[in-house]
Amino acid sequence: MSAVFDGWVKVGKLGDVPRRGARCIKSGDVTIAIFRTADDRVFALEDRCPHKNGPLSQGIVHDGCVTCPLHNWVISLENGEAQGADSGRSASFKVKLKGDDILLDLKDVHRAGRR
Ligand code: FES
Repeated sequence: MSAVFDGWVKVGKLGDVPRRGARCIKSGDVTIAIFRTADDRVFALEDRCPHKNGPLSQGIVHDGCVTCPLHNWVISLENGEAQGADSGRSASFKVKLKGDDILLDLKDVHRAGRR
């Protein structure tokens, strides 16, 4: 991570994250998956599936969700909620684009680290 703007920290460039894929960063004990959709929106979830902690960053991004690579649960990128009949939630974090820079709300991540 690098420069901080008003609590937001630059964690990389949009081009660092493959379309319909993810890239992970670490903040303390928390591994955060930054996802990029086909239409270049970005989302950030803790890289742990609410089912059995599967690596969501290795899943397929589609329709505003990611499908976990282990047992195919579908997780909303917006809020980390499991979809359909499954229930559970991965921690989600505030992330935004400023030009090509991906900015993550560090305060949000610190709160997650204390959960
Ligand atoms: S660990 Fe993700 S679906 Fe089972």
